[in-house]
Order: sequence, then C-alpha cells, then structure tokens
Amino acid sequence: MIQQAARDFAREELLPGVIERDEKQDFPAELRAKMGALGFMGMMTDPAYGGSGLDTLSYVLVMEELSRIDASASVIMSVNNSLYGWGLEKFGSEFQKEKYLTPCAKGEKLGAFALSEPEAGSDATSQRTEAIDMGDHYLLNGTKNWITNGKNADYYLVIAQTNREAGHKGINVLIVEKDMPGFVTGPKENKLGIRASDTCSLIFTDVKVPKENRIGEDGFGFRFAMKTLDGGRIGIAAQALGIAAGALEFSLAYARERKAFGKPIHDHQAIAFKLADMATRLEAARMLVYKAAWLKDQGEDYSEAAAMAKMYASDLAMWAGVEAVQIHGGYGYVKEYHVERLMRDAKITQIYEGTNEIQRIVISRNLTR
Ligand code: CAA
Repeated sequence: MIQQAARDFAREELLPGVIERDEKQDFPAELRAKMGALGFMGMMTDPAYGGSGLDTLSYVLVMEELSRIDASASVIMSVNNSLYGWGLEKFGSEFQKEKYLTPCAKGEKLGAFALSEPEAGSDATSQRTEAIDMGDHYLLNGTKNWITNGKNADYYLVIAQTNREAGHKGINVLIVEKDMPGFVTGPKENKLGIRASDTCSLIFTDVKVPKENRIGEDGFGFRFAMKTLDGGRIGIAAQALGIAAGALEFSLAYARERKAFGKPIHDHQAIAFKLADMATRLEAARMLVYKAAWLKDQGEDYSEAAAMAKMYASDLAMWAGVEAVQIHGGYGYVKEYHVERLMRDAKITQIYEGTNEIQRIVISRNLTR
C-alpha cells in the first residue's frame, strides 16, 4: 500500500512538471507540502513527534518510487528523514524534538544537515567551522558547502569544531535556525543533476547558538555525523535504485514501441541483452538496499551494509542511465524522453553522503577490523 501510494504520487504529481523544474531549477515547494501531507517527510519518526512511525523498509520503498521519476524531490525527502530527523529523534533532548523535529516530520518545516566544507568533504574530521563555548551559548563562525535543502530549510544540523586540540572528539552538532542573526546562505549551485533541489553554501558570522541547541554530550558531533550518514546512505542507495529502475522502465516502454529493421527493438539482441543486464543488476541492488534497511530495523549494525548498498546502487544508476540513453538513441539525448535527466541525476549518488571511494574505506575497514 505504501509503495502504491508513492507510485501514484510520483506518476500523478511529480511526473507532469519534472522536466520544467529540472530545466528552471525550481524547488518543488508545493510538492514538498504534499509529500508532508502523505507522511513522507517523517516516515520513520514516532507519531508522538509528528511522524508516520513506519520502518526503514517502507522509507526505502517510497524513496525508490519517487526517484524513478524525480530524484530532486526524493533527495529533499531523504535529507529531512535521514540526515535531519533520525539523529534528532535518537539523540536529541525532549525540547529539541518538540521544537525542531515535530514540524519537520509533519512536513510543515524543512531540515538540512551541514557537514561538508570547502576543505572537508571526504576528510570529515578536518572541520574549519568553529563554535566557541561562551558559557550559555556557542559563537559559530565558518562556511559549509553543497548543502542539500540549503535555501529552503528552516532548521540546520551544523557540525562544528569546538575544541581543535581534541580532534574529532572536539566536534559538536548544533541546531541552527534560519533566522538567527549572522547566518546567510550563498547562491543556489547550478548543478549537472538534481537541479530542482536547492544546494548552496551556508555562511556563519558570529552566530549565537544557545547551548540547549547542542545535540548530545560535549564532543559527540563527529560520531553523531558518522552514525547519521550510515542511515543517510540507505536513503541515497534507495534513490540510486529508483533512478536505475526508472531508467529500465522508460527503456522498456521505448523498446516496445520503437521499431527498427521490421521489429520492435527489444527483439534485437543488442537491446534485449542491455535490458536483461539492467533488470538483473537492479534486482541485486534491490536486495542490498532492502537488506541494509532490514538490518537497521532489526537493530543490527548496518554501517557496512549501507555502504555496500550505496556504492553498488549508485554505480548501477550511473551505468543504467547511460545504457538507457543508448537504447533511446537520439531520442535519449533530448529532455522529453526523461532518460538524459536520470543519467545526469545518477552522478551525484556516486558522490554525496560519502563518495564511493569512502564507501570502500568503510567496507574494507569493517572487513579488516
Ligand atoms: N558509527 C559510529 N562511530 C563511527 C563511525 C560510525 N559509522 N565511523 C567512525 N566512527 C567513530 C570511530 O569509532 C572513531 O571514534 P573513536 O576514536 O572514539 O574510536 C571516530 O568516529 C573517528 O573515526 P575514524 O578514525 O574512522 O575517522 P576518519 O577520519 O578515518 O574518517 C571516514 C572515516 C569514513 C573517512 C569519514 O570521515 C567519512 O565517512 N567521510 C565522508 C563524509 C561524508 O559522507 N560526507 C558527506 C557529507 S553529507 C552529504 O553529502 C549530504 C547531502 O547533501 C545529501
């Protein structure tokens, strides 16, 4: 039922304007509100905090369905659910959950997660953003880059260095409100893909953040970020899975209708083999993604499974996007046929929430520890 609801929403609501939003880089504000009304913005959050109280597998099903059509809409949902909501619910205080989680889980407000910096993308311990302890508040200074939901978010989880000598143990996570004095956002990035999502930099100049907005114990920020990203990677794996599934779906439809040399192109082995390979790898990726979600729901360690799912599904999405364009030939290269967008959208899934080189580090460290 959940999958069907997401599929219907994607076909009826996301599909009609998706090409235009991509071209104009229009943030889907109204659609985001509809996603909130359907319960997609706080899927795993406890109903006591405005969420749907569902499991990770349900979340993955919705992410996949939305991403078949519109990976910009799905990343907005993924960041709000995984990178923003999950850690806030698990580690936040009652005050923080009531004030900052509930409206975001209901879809009335939007959350963002700010870790990456100009010089700290993969090397996440090298945070330059600094939050100086001033007693009852922190004084926050620095710049964050490539922040998803950057312009439209209301609340941000900002990772900052509070004690440089302590290395990763001197990092904290602070909840920052959009209208806190000294906080501005940079221009929206003009991206290759997921163009309707609003990626931008965040600039903090002497922003006073109350102490009560720090999540967890002093020095918990880096571990918080790593734990959060483990779950975030399941969301991105599901996004990549959806992009690959969309590439296959559009390709199948085209292969049935397009004739060459007197028969539908799927009757030519060159195309038939591509479709068979896409379907097989898609099924393998789906099992990895569902397994990572299932492990998380069982309360098992899912760090390695999430990294495997994210790496495999995103490589698949990129490959399937390219193959889908090839199957469509010249039609694939123009926007009306959707697959060139899926191909462009796929690329970011190999990069964000840890490049696939980072996923390999996570996996190999797990193997050898
Ligand atoms: N869970 C809990 N704790 C963890 C952890 C995890 N998954 N991974 C690491 N830690 C802990 C370690 O146990 C260690 O703590 P102790 O010293 O107390 O034992 C501490 O964190 C430091 O760990 P490492 O020594 O392993 O740290 P490292 O510097 O070698 O980095 C890394 C490890 C995997 C490379 C990490 O830096 C990393 O994941 N980098 C990529 C960051 C990333 O994903 N950035 C994407 C930004 S967000 C984004 O893209 C959002 C968006 O827009 C959609």
